[in-house]
Amino acid sequence: MLVLPKGFRHIPGFLDRDRQEALVEEIRAVVAAAPLYRPAMPKTGKDLSVRMTNCGTLGWVTDKALGYRYQPQHPVSQEPWPAIPQSLLDLWQTVAGAYKPPQACLVNFYAETARMGLHQDKDEQDLQTPVVSVSLGDACLFRVGGRERNDRTVSFKLSSGDIVVLGGESRLAFHGVDRIYPATSTLLKNGGRINLTLRRVTP
Ligand code: SIN
Ligand code: FE2
Repeated sequence: MLVLPKGFRHIPGFLDRDRQEALVEEIRAVVAAAPLYRPAMPKTGKDLSVRMTNCGTLGWVTDKALGYRYQPQHPVSQEPWPAIPQSLLDLWQTVAGAYKPPQACLVNFYAETARMGLHQDKDEQDLQTPVVSVSLGDACLFRVGGRERNDRTVSFKLSSGDIVVLGGESRLAFHGVDRIYPATSTLLKNGGRINLTLRRVTP
């Protein structure tokens, strides 16, 4: 039986194709202003396979020297991050409207072979507000567990237009992306998957 952690929501097909296409255009504009860069793990300096950028007043970044953190500028260009597109703020209003608006939107780009190891989102001072994430492009195998790394996990596919909410007891649930399913969507011309993660950072 598939037992999801309490407060975890998966909303398949939240965005229809037209809204997905409109959102991709908005993300293209974000990436034009704040190019994707290759983040590195703290201490080891090992590259992540996912490329990243952000929009919002704060962005989540990581590198060898300073590790995981939020900062108001792009780590390469040192420019302020572009604003979060209105359509994402509207989406937040619909699924997490009881909470203050998001300050950060992490843009993750997964090429065919990229993945993301099991981790918790815990670099935010505010751990009450849910984390809301949107999937675009190729499907992936997503995994979510409990608050301890060794808790049982459940895996399922996330497709383009799906939303995931990590709220309540699942706010600190371990989660990750085991693999991308190449060529499962026609949304992105050159394939791959985009994940947008909206977060409140300060209370
Ligand atoms: C993340 O946890 O930052 C990304 C999750 C995803 O790609 O669905
Ligand atoms: Fe995460």
